[in-house]
Amino acid sequence: MKSGGGETLIITDSRTGKSHELLIEHGCLWANDLKHIKTGENDPGLMSYDPGLLNTAACKSTITYINGEKGILRYRGYPIEELAEKKSYLECAYLLIHGELPTHDQQAEWLEEINRHLSVNPLVNTLVCSFPTSAHPMAMLISSIAALSGLNPEAKNVTDTDSRQLQIVRLIAKLPTLAAWAYRHKRGLAPVPPNRELSYAGNFLYMMFHEDNKKEAISSVLEKALDILFTLHADHEQNCSTTAMRIIGSSLADPYLAVAGAAAALAGPRHGGANEEVLRMLRQIGSKDKVASHIKRVKEGEERLMGFGHRVYKNYDPRAKIIKQTAEEVFKATGVNPLLEIAIELERIALEDDYFIKRKLYPNVDFYSGLIYEAMRIPTDMFTVLFAVARVSGWLAQWLEFLRDGEQKISRPRQIYLGRGKRHVPD
Ligand code: CMC
Repeated sequence: MKSGGGETLIITDSRTGKSHELLIEHGCLWANDLKHIKTGENDPGLMSYDPGLLNTAACKSTITYINGEKGILRYRGYPIEELAEKKSYLECAYLLIHGELPTHDQQAEWLEEINRHLSVNPLVNTLVCSFPTSAHPMAMLISSIAALSGLNPEAKNVTDTDSRQLQIVRLIAKLPTLAAWAYRHKRGLAPVPPNRELSYAGNFLYMMFHEDNKKEAISSVLEKALDILFTLHADHEQNCSTTAMRIIGSSLADPYLAVAGAAAALAGPRHGGANEEVLRMLRQIGSKDKVASHIKRVKEGEERLMGFGHRVYKNYDPRAKIIKQTAEEVFKATGVNPLLEIAIELERIALEDDYFIKRKLYPNVDFYSGLIYEAMRIPTDMFTVLFAVARVSGWLAQWLEFLRDGEQKISRPRQIYLGRGKRHVPD
């Protein structure tokens, strides 16, 4: 517990009157040091209680920096605004995984590797097709990612660095293919093989929307917008799904199983499912004149304003700003989505309202992204699927960092047991 001259916290335990000196490192106490603070021999020692892990650092990371108060997001030190403007999603994925932007040659090699692994074993499509078409595409995606574990048994060698690298490339390459299969199965359409001539985002749009005997061109505006959305969603430090990825990875499960679990965590409406909920909410509101009464219901606690609020950002989400600009570009090409008018009015009223100001509730990444997806003809239930396609690079970067971190162990939080004492089953 002693610091050896570094920063410390000295606390007095009112139960025993004893003082304890705890080491402070990077502005944190080591939770394990609390164990030494005891009232007696039989006391297991003090723990910290943190439901939702609101104030617990579970790792040291060099991947993503967020300052929620100032609205800052950086990948490996680069501001998200500069990356979205100047770099492609695949370059950002490389940055997240490898720590640096690729050189010209590294980028060519990276693209070549990704392109080589775009195809997926057709057996997995049989699995996707076994779902009723009414099933949510996230259920199809999660199952098909898990199925890749069965097809790549060597992936369980998570300490083998070559195998790790191969599975990372496979996952980034194959996610759009799996996502497009889920989309097409729901519409009774046969899968479209990947087109290696196209960009990552362009190929994804192609695999979803290609129609036989039609030579449609992929709109460069939509392709660019989708690529930017992928970049904005690529990583967001220790959020719910990334935490799930690290926790599953901590058991040394293979990365397909860990990504399937992370995607399951993403699926809920308070995380990746929120942009889907935003569109439902906007449709339910129906028109600009009903916005005020909706805000009233939110303030009375009847529902949440979807696409607003963030565990970390207590300021405008920097991703939401970029998305709003991207939406303008997209709507120039596709025509304005009538729901945009409702969204702008919601934002206007909410940003002036005391309820939202006091609680520092600002639009988050999901508030406008759904409107862009809709303009691209992407159905609402695919929004979270697209989030997963983009986030896989972040999950894998975090997983890799976890595996290389000598301080990490299998995750095993403690609990405060408040249940019954010992009792006997009646005869
Ligand atoms: N609408 C209305 N009130 C809200 C909202 C909202 N969207 N978000 C938080 N609040 C209120 C909440 O009721 C509470 O009020 P009070 O103090 O009176 O009880 C206060 O603000 C603090 O809320 P909280 O639930 O403690 O905040 P949190 O940090 O645990 O929740 C959140 C963060 C994102 C889950 C929440 O803001 C929310 O549910 N937002 C809507 C869903 C959403 O848009 N999610 C996408 C997040 S961004 C994408 C991602 O990274 O996953």
